[in-house]
Amino acid sequence: MTRAISLKRVSKSYQRGIRAVEKVSLDIKPGEFLVLLGPSGCGKSTVLRMIAGLEEVTEGEVLLDGEYANDLDPSERNMAMVFQSFALYPTMTTRGNIGFPLRMESPGEDPSPRVDATARMLGIEDLLGRYPHQLSGGERQRVAMGRAIARHPSAFLMDEPLSNLDAKLRNHLRAEISRITREVGATTVYVTHDQAEAMSLGDRVAVLRGGILQQLDTPRMVYARPANVFVAAFIGTPRINLLRGVVRAPLDGAMSIGLGRQALRLPEPLCLDHQLLRVQQGREVIVGLRSEAVRLAPRSAARPAEVPISGLVEHVEYQGHEVLVHLNTGSQPAVVPELEAPRPQPTVRRRRDTRMTVLDRLRERAVSLRAGPVVVLDRDGDEYEPREERLPAPTGDLVVRTTPDIDLRQGMQVPLLVDLDHLFVFDRYGERISPAPDHAPDLGW
Ligand SMILES: Nc1ncnc2c1ncn2[C@@H]1O[C@H](COP(=O)(O)OP(=O)(O)OP(=O)(O)O)[C@@H](O)[C@H]1O
Ligand SMILES: [Mg+2]
Repeated sequence: MTRAISLKRVSKSYQRGIRAVEKVSLDIKPGEFLVLLGPSGCGKSTVLRMIAGLEEVTEGEVLLDGEYANDLDPSERNMAMVFQSFALYPTMTTRGNIGFPLRMESPGEDPSPRVDATARMLGIEDLLGRYPHQLSGGERQRVAMGRAIARHPSAFLMDEPLSNLDAKLRNHLRAEISRITREVGATTVYVTHDQAEAMSLGDRVAVLRGGILQQLDTPRMVYARPANVFVAAFIGTPRINLLRGVVRAPLDGAMSIGLGRQALRLPEPLCLDHQLLRVQQGREVIVGLRSEAVRLAPRSAARPAEVPISGLVEHVEYQGHEVLVHLNTGSQPAVVPELEAPRPQPTVRRRRDTRMTVLDRLRERAVSLRAGPVVVLDRDGDEYEPREERLPAPTGDLVVRTTPDIDLRQGMQVPLLVDLDHLFVFDRYGERISPAPDHAPDLGW
């Protein structure tokens, strides 16, 4: 049996008004593997514990197969939890540990057939007679998984089950968790702060920030269409390059995005994805360039969607199969505070700005309902005037991947091509404006 899990505007407050989770809504389909992803303290475990019934819901509803379940005891939910610290009973063998919940549930029944079948599935038949102190960390985690699986739960709830293990074992067990949960067919909610783990395991990924759901989508979509700059920066390695830019949209000329000393000229006629940028005329924005959006190549090699800039090599990082080149392009990097430090207090000055367009106001309202701004670049809505003194002392602002056969040295000026088909632009609140959000109107420019 597998089940659908829904959260309807679920919030959790602890004493003294700590709001750990804020109006989270999720619909998890039967048999789906959903990953809750976010930095430390963003409320992942709290959401999981509310689904398990281990934490009371302050507001909103938890529905199991469509039925109101806020008041159900954990034991009535038929879910199995696997934690980071896998507490096995030290005085019991593997057989005893896996069979224990079965004996509790049905005291008269012999648990052996189910224990044996579970051990076979996990490849731990040889370990059935051993005690926990005779097992390695990975083997112990497998026994803990076995204890969860043997019960035939309707859902698995896993809270960073692999984070105590070394990288190699983690990769191995990650693949195993994926295989087993699919084989069993049970709905799985898996918590992690490791984006690579989330991307490789999840049918869908729910990204949380400060207790608020930022985006719920397939791994492919959270990478290719991040809702905001926080999601864009949290997902993908190497981390997306984020540069502060300013939109220039003269009435009589081509639109461009100024990046300090250089600019990206947008091709005419403007594609649909660049149309919303015109509304940002004169405003600061954040330009996001993943490593696949920039390559080291001369202007003459440019494909139709590529525009040239250049950069000064600051540092060359050899990685064997590839090289990461840290460049200075004369722009200012944009910082997403939550990624450097958990749970910041957003300081937003709310001042009515008479120059804001209706679209801006709608956007501001939508953002404040959803999450609060991710970053605020231009707090007063002042027009940005690119002055030389606003530029910081030169630092590497762009990391580009290249092959190791190119001879690059510090101080070299190199030509770059930026692929505008892979360009992200976020507004001053951190919301994505290019590629245009799905709900964006066609402005017909
Ligand atoms: N019992 C509690 N009392 C008060 N505050 C709590 C309690 N449990 C959690 N919190 C707070 O709620 C917020 C969310 O905590 P939670 O454990 O859900 O985060 P998390 O995303 O699982 O973090 P981590 O990745 O570090 O495990 C945090 O700010 C935390 O300090
Ligand atoms: Mg946690």
